[in-house]
Amino acid sequence: MAQPYSPHFLCDQAQRTQATRSFIYNQVRWDAAPLTLDLGCGSGAITSELTARTHHTTAIGIDINPLLLSSAIQNKSHPAVHYLLADATAMPFRSNLFSFILDHFTLMWIQRYQHALEESYRVLHTGGKFASIEPDYSGRIEAPLIPSNTSSPIPPIIKYLTTVGAHPYLGSQLPRALDQAGYKGICFGVLAWEYCKQAAQQEIRGEANLLTAHKLPWELPHFTFTPIFWVLGNRP
Ligand SMILES: C[S@@+](CC[C@H](N)C(=O)[O-])C[C@H]1O[C@@H](n2cnc3c(N)ncnc32)[C@H](O)[C@@H]1O
Repeated sequence: MAQPYSPHFLCDQAQRTQATRSFIYNQVRWDAAPLTLDLGCGSGAITSELTARTHHTTAIGIDINPLLLSSAIQNKSHPAVHYLLADATAMPFRSNLFSFILDHFTLMWIQRYQHALEESYRVLHTGGKFASIEPDYSGRIEAPLIPSNTSSPIPPIIKYLTTVGAHPYLGSQLPRALDQAGYKGICFGVLAWEYCKQAAQQEIRGEANLLTAHKLPWELPHFTFTPIFWVLGNRP
């Protein structure tokens, strides 16, 4: 599947979800010496955060994109962070290993994301936690609104994601997907959103670059809003 993100894009994106990640980290109680996993770590924009809860935590980031992974390795600044080229749907780990797994904008790019959820369940140890942060473009707002009398009122970014085989509506589907994979104690939500001009412009620029590269015309909006779901589940 064509995956368009650069390390720069991922870094900007990670900044925009900082509040959601802090919220997740505060919900999760980790073991004394946990092993954590960043599922689809890309260029490692957030992997080192998964070591921050205790002095004894080790974080492993896996990704299938060798270019992004090499950028992660080159920028590695934390001794307890390790990176591995691996597929989230068939992980090279024994079962019952990890205390915490974070998916941040990865599952939406995996065609068989249910397999990745089941694999994550397998490698989590009993009582381990799985957390997902994924957008859902069904709640997308663009202002000014796309006129309903245009032949196609679907926002171009959704057309783009669908064309490249991503799952633009994954956020709200995840609670059920976790349930089907066997997770328990599932809770989820969307954090309140506050407009920030700089972040909004950054996001619009990033999306405009993507759409231009794919020759999808887009009349630049003043702002866009895409709900970001957080979902948490336990491995019983
Ligand atoms: C939008 S990026 C998010 C990267 C990172 N989680 C972040 O937030 O910075 C999606 C990542 O998922 C990775 N990915 C896609 N399919 C994957 C798979 N089957 N196994 C592992 N990683 C995968 C991509 O290579 C890419 O790095």
